[in-house]
Amino acid sequence: MSAKIIDGKAISASCRVKIAEDTENFKKTHGFAPGLSVIIVGEDPASKVYVRNKKLGCEQVGFNSSVYELPENTTREELNALIDKLNADDSVHGILVQLPLPKHLDSEEVIARISPKKDVDAFHESNVGRIMIGNYSFLPCTPAGVMVLLKESGIDISGKECVVVGRSNIVGKPMAMLLLQANGTVTICHSRTKDLSEVTRRADILVVAIGKADFITADMVKPGAVVIDVGMNRRADGKLTGDVDFASVSEIASYITPVPGGVGPMTITMLLQNTLISAEGFAKGK
Ligand code: GUN
Repeated sequence: MSAKIIDGKAISASCRVKIAEDTENFKKTHGFAPGLSVIIVGEDPASKVYVRNKKLGCEQVGFNSSVYELPENTTREELNALIDKLNADDSVHGILVQLPLPKHLDSEEVIARISPKKDVDAFHESNVGRIMIGNYSFLPCTPAGVMVLLKESGIDISGKECVVVGRSNIVGKPMAMLLLQANGTVTICHSRTKDLSEVTRRADILVVAIGKADFITADMVKPGAVVIDVGMNRRADGKLTGDVDFASVSEIASYITPVPGGVGPMTITMLLQNTLISAEGFAKGK
């Protein structure tokens, strides 16, 4: 193997130490703790794990947190009423509705109902718009985590060919925007891209978020590229694997994120960061 491994676990741990220190100072100054409320509807096992880890993350850095576990058959009206209640609660600075929602609920409507000031996922259209013009309070957690991993690894983005594979609202699109704001030359690829390998081979920095296990192989990567794997797929044998074929790509990349232990640990850390930023905004009366 020639690539350096970007250790998301270690970088995440040191970010959380800093967030815990800042939270301690925040509490001394303002006399209250940042508060995050998480809503989960239904029984999706992966979502339950994510929500549990979000709660543990809050405890680790000294936030208040509450988890609302709603049954699968929760109505639109019941969910809206809970969001309205949390929007109006001064002790809540961040609201997160875990996705995906059961089919009878409309995630776009739900996201739009969350106060943009408490939208620590940065999914609300006003926060998405603010990211487009570079005037934001919150960045979406996964792309923000990738940017921290690049920075902490000393990787300069300015002028680099950056290729993002995947165009989701949660990862691909905002990821491209953040790389652009860091002065990368950015290309977004997706399922209709002609000759995907030809594009991915141009990348100095390749970010992959498509949800296809081990899809990116060494022949699709330029030797010396930085490869960031946002994928989180479960193999038939139960093991977690990314969108990048780690065994072959790590032979030729300069830096690579493993799965697990790369991008994943950063996502909740960025959520905690956003919740603290939100609480600071509320403390300043913004
Ligand atoms: N489901 C998977 N990832 C996320 C996330 O970052 N936020 C929310 N709300 N739901 C998710």
